[in-house]
Amino acid sequence: MLYDASLNFIFWCPTKVVFGQNTALDVVMEVENLGCKRALIVTDRDLIKNTDIPERIKKALGKLSAGIFSDVEADSGVHIVNQGAKFGKEVGADCLVSVGGGSAIDTAKGIAILLKEGGKLQDYVGFQILTRPQTPHIVIPTTAGTGSEVTYIAVIKDHEEGRKLLFGDYHILPNVAILDPRMTEGLSPRLTAATGMDAMCHAIEAMHSLQREPIADGIALHAIRLIKEFLPKAVENGKDMLARGQMLIAANIAGGAFSNAQVAVVHALAHSVGARFKVHHGLANSILLPPCLRYNADVCGEVYLDVLSALGVNIEGIQPDQAGEVAADKIIEFTMKLGLPQRLRDVGVPEEGLRECSELALSDGAIIYNPKLISESTEVLQIYQQAW
Ligand SMILES: [Fe+2]
Repeated sequence: MLYDASLNFIFWCPTKVVFGQNTALDVVMEVENLGCKRALIVTDRDLIKNTDIPERIKKALGKLSAGIFSDVEADSGVHIVNQGAKFGKEVGADCLVSVGGGSAIDTAKGIAILLKEGGKLQDYVGFQILTRPQTPHIVIPTTAGTGSEVTYIAVIKDHEEGRKLLFGDYHILPNVAILDPRMTEGLSPRLTAATGMDAMCHAIEAMHSLQREPIADGIALHAIRLIKEFLPKAVENGKDMLARGQMLIAANIAGGAFSNAQVAVVHALAHSVGARFKVHHGLANSILLPPCLRYNADVCGEVYLDVLSALGVNIEGIQPDQAGEVAADKIIEFTMKLGLPQRLRDVGVPEEGLRECSELALSDGAIIYNPKLISESTEVLQIYQQAW
């Protein structure tokens, strides 16, 4: 893809990344490096119920552990952030170690704000509201998908108001991300596939976004290559440490790409079926990606040729105006092999709910980055109908 001389962008990704098997057990060094003495682990209920990971991290922290806050649920909520901050204050936490997927990480981003600033979390909704560094935060992801360990975004649900709050602030970028393949080995094949496709969508969306830029393009293309090669292997054998590690790297760099270049129509539509019908974020993205590629095909030919190359397709003879269609078919072939559902009707979305989701998607913040202007809910509805 080429850019012209008017190119103008910022690429910002200051999070220190540590990679390797068992590196999570060296978390104490990272706490010390940050000059902290009381690390609160923030994790979710399932992880503490079904694995010994949070306890192992606590043991690894030794005297620097301030305890475990394990009340995080699937959709992180303001009330959970409030409870976590209260607990953090009680135990004198001066840094956070989030262990889990997107919800645990985003909850910790919220707790980081309240521990530093106090007050109400709702006061910090929006973009670049914070004026100083927040509570230091180390992330240990247990899924390879969200990339939240390197993004400046947190999405936290206000259950009382029934809406999702968006926090976009450079001061909530985690300080350290520890990518330890051992932390993802227990993830089920289905969740491995779904979260992996979230990462795939981050990479492709960063490339077709209106805010696309060359550094993000470069890492997004590498993420696509890695996901194409290693996601099927991680799904087939969760103990394949090479595949698990490469997927963590892919999710991480795709996170760095979209944190700078943004996501677009796929995420806008996925957020809405997630909010309205609780469809898993990665699954929703996976199902919606092909019709969105077709929708954007006439303006993204060159971009999608690059995507196809990264997917290992010989693009000789494929014209730019055909690339979106071919890419959509390739994604369907890929997700079918992963055993993922192909239709919104297969994941609990009723046909009569599509109209409401279309209205909702039109007001989603991601849609403004789509390379093709979408101003009518009927356009969104057509994409949903293709995916239904
Ligand atoms: Fe996502």
